[in-house]
Amino acid sequence: MHISKEKILLNLKSRIFSRQIHLFEEVSSTQDILRSLIVSGSPEGTIVVSETQTQGRGRLDREWVSPDGGLWFSTVLIPPFGPEAAPQITLLAALSIVQAVSDVASIAASIKWPNDIFINGKKAAGIIGEMSSHQVAIKYITLGIGINVNIPLENLPPCATSLSHETQREIPLEELLSSFLNHLDDNYSAFKVSKDLSPFMDSIRKLLLYKGKTVEISTAHGMVQGTILDIHTDGRLIMKIGDESRMLSSGEISRSDTKEGIEHGGIDR
Ligand code: BTN
Repeated sequence: MHISKEKILLNLKSRIFSRQIHLFEEVSSTQDILRSLIVSGSPEGTIVVSETQTQGRGRLDREWVSPDGGLWFSTVLIPPFGPEAAPQITLLAALSIVQAVSDVASIAASIKWPNDIFINGKKAAGIIGEMSSHQVAIKYITLGIGINVNIPLENLPPCATSLSHETQREIPLEELLSSFLNHLDDNYSAFKVSKDLSPFMDSIRKLLLYKGKTVEISTAHGMVQGTILDIHTDGRLIMKIGDESRMLSSGEISRSDTKEGIEHGGIDR
């Protein structure tokens, strides 16, 4: 399966994400290739896509299985904000994945806070956000996105699913990528004006997995159990723990009643 740049450009309306698109058959990790391109002067919006990765990585340095048939790519944003905007930007990327999956694969996906995409209880996509910052300013954020598109379940880890499995048809990778980039461009442009997630709260709330459910979350300060109430406009998760409400800025959610796959969330620096 070969990803075609012409097919990506066919539906790509975004100007920022059409500046530089680098396609590869195999790389170690699109995150690493992108980082070296940034160092040599590539602009905001540069895209690196690879058909396979030999050292795809997820959060917490976990391995990210990246066989042929998936959409494995990275892009770079230079938001005019401080590091506190980073979790909001990964949530915008999560929203953009859900929108693209709905447009191109006609299937409903949910956001498992802070940056995983689930379909029918299984992980279909993940985002890694890696930030370089200088004092109070973000220098850049590389968003690494993996979407299990046309991959049989036997080639994926047990808690994962793919779009082709869920829809029983092949999904065009190029259309999915350009749809994602068009949505991310719209969402990012609106975010630069609003400076928080307020324009997106209705959509994000509807898509929030486990809202109202009891979960366990492992945080930097230990394990907490509580009920997910909402998301704050700054991207933090609002939980009810005992009689108090608490805001979490990062963590790893697992359902305490089903014990399904534990996933880490947060921004890696
Ligand atoms: C996660 O859920 O832990 C994040 C997974 C991110 C995987 C993508 S695939 C493209 C990019 N390159 C990588 O090495 N990782 C990200």
